[in-house]
Amino acid sequence: MNKRIMITGGAGFLGSHLCERLLREPGEVLCVDNFYTGRKQNIAHLMGDHRFEVMRHDVTFPLYVEVDQIYNLACPASPIHYQFDPVQTTKTSVHGAINMLGLAKRVKARILQASTSEVYGDPEVHPQHEGYWGKVNPIGVRSCYDEGKRCAETLFFDYWRQHHLQIKVVRIFNTYGPRMRPDDGRVVSNFIVQALKGEDISIYGEGLQTRSFCYVDDLIDAMVRMMKSPDGFTGPVNIGNPTEFTMLALAEEILRQTNSASRLVHRPLPEDDPRQRRPDISLAQKSLGWSPRVSLEDGLKETIAYFRTLIFG
Ligand SMILES: NC(=O)c1ccc[n+]([C@@H]2O[C@H](COP(=O)([O-])OP(=O)(O)OC[C@H]3O[C@@H](n4cnc5c(N)ncnc54)[C@H](O)[C@@H]3O)[C@@H](O)[C@H]2O)c1
Repeated sequence: MNKRIMITGGAGFLGSHLCERLLREPGEVLCVDNFYTGRKQNIAHLMGDHRFEVMRHDVTFPLYVEVDQIYNLACPASPIHYQFDPVQTTKTSVHGAINMLGLAKRVKARILQASTSEVYGDPEVHPQHEGYWGKVNPIGVRSCYDEGKRCAETLFFDYWRQHHLQIKVVRIFNTYGPRMRPDDGRVVSNFIVQALKGEDISIYGEGLQTRSFCYVDDLIDAMVRMMKSPDGFTGPVNIGNPTEFTMLALAEEILRQTNSASRLVHRPLPEDDPRQRRPDISLAQKSLGWSPRVSLEDGLKETIAYFRTLIFG
């Protein structure tokens, strides 16, 4: 039987790639989005497929649809956007999770939560493994996102324990690729846009803080594997690329690939900015048979090509 798969946040950066990926398999895909940070252009190329449907809906309100699987991605992911209306961000994570879990319970759907490495906060353990509980500021400017996502995980596991839902939780580390927004303030899109426009590249602090970057195709592959994993495997499971780069190294690679003459300019560190972030992905490797394949160099090539077209036509 053809599966009916719902993706909340389906018009966003990751959601649109997931819609595209799932349409390569038999089944129907329902994209639910309130277009807060998502864009119609991200999914315009899918509109001709009769198995694809779009619904404008805010997940903080209940939803009644018949589906077999739910990927819950709805939530602004970049600090600029999630801090713009922090109360709505928490509502989206928490009320959104309650509504989607309620729906999954009613229609007996399997449900996957797009959680985040931000649940580890500014970690004291490096690299971060799933057993680490994190070090999160509950009252800072990032808390609406971090604590909202932590509470969503709690709800997923309570629905699993209490109502025996088939849940899947992935903790996503920094992911990049085509369809990121040029204005979202995330480091990869920031640096690329600044390099392409010949503007100064803003490095926060010394630029020695490290991040690991996962290319979007690798991430989507892991999410689909997770949804298909055996019933008993709930996660949480880290998904990301463990190869670490300093912000300086990233900026230099982008300057090289764009042939840009932009200068590197140091700016103050934002509040609660984590110093170091790298996933321990041994659980994903063992349980999902997954490892990232795309190198930073290749992933940046695709992403730069996307932004070049977006900016210069
Ligand atoms: N991209 C990353 O590096 C990353 C890292 C960790 C976690 N995540 C998680 O993955 C998910 C997708 O992230 P993304 O990078 O694609 O971000 P995004 O902002 O591009 O996508 C989020 C989507 O959710 C939609 N949305 C927001 N609030 C909504 C609401 N109340 N109702 C319905 N739709 C709503 C937005 O319009 C957008 O289409 C998010 O849950 C995010 O927390 C992403």
